[in-house]
Amino acid sequence: MKTLIAANWKMHGNLGWAQKPAEFRRLFAQSNDNVEILLCPPAHMLEPMVNASKGLDIYIGAQNCHDQISGAYTGELSAVMVAETGAQYVILGHSERRAMFGDTDKWVAAKTSAVQKVGLKPIICVGERRADRVAGQAEEVVGAQLSGSIPPKADGKNLVIAYEPVWAIGTGLTPTIEDIATIHDHIRSCLTKRFGVRIADKIQILYGGSVKPENAEEILALGDVAGALIGGAGLDMKSLAAIAAAAGE
Ligand code: PGA
Repeated sequence: MKTLIAANWKMHGNLGWAQKPAEFRRLFAQSNDNVEILLCPPAHMLEPMVNASKGLDIYIGAQNCHDQISGAYTGELSAVMVAETGAQYVILGHSERRAMFGDTDKWVAAKTSAVQKVGLKPIICVGERRADRVAGQAEEVVGAQLSGSIPPKADGKNLVIAYEPVWAIGTGLTPTIEDIATIHDHIRSCLTKRFGVRIADKIQILYGGSVKPENAEEILALGDVAGALIGGAGLDMKSLAAIAAAAGE
């Protein structure tokens, strides 16, 4: 399984950033077969980014979508519309969406079904808040989010999970390596219980939350960390290339 290095650009950038895929490839040559690169720009940049990434072996993904195919949902984008741009992934249930835009486990599950139905790959984000960790409930909270955010009828195929502790996002803080390993183990065992070992073993589990060139190698060296979901450090192609290089080690 390749290591997935995914940059979530959030609400940053402009159409001029379509030169970033080429810039990335100048910094990180095509030849590394161990690493898969995914850029998730704001919605208006999806198609230009898909075009700009052609032949560069870089995937493009959306940061969210709606669960319905079409309808009176002002300001929303459906999975079909994302697919139409040529993008291949959709991040779902990011903690910012959960905290600010009302994404619940149930809604994330519905969005996940919609995304899978059109052949896109969902990246479902889960993660505990600071208070949950202090209360010793990180595993419980993450387990509950996971079970509620994966659609009831899911078969475990075509699915990526990202463990992103809320308190580590954009703060420069990260859990200890042991704590990351513990939660990833827990996620893996929840997935195994639900889908059986053969299918669960194929599900990539990413870590996200203040991943930087300085800590990427140590985090990505963990056995069950199959990649990273990167915010701040993914806006700069130099640091993204450094993280990708750490993944290829
Ligand atoms: P960060 O964000 O890398 O800036 O902490 C991660 C994320 O929100 O996915």
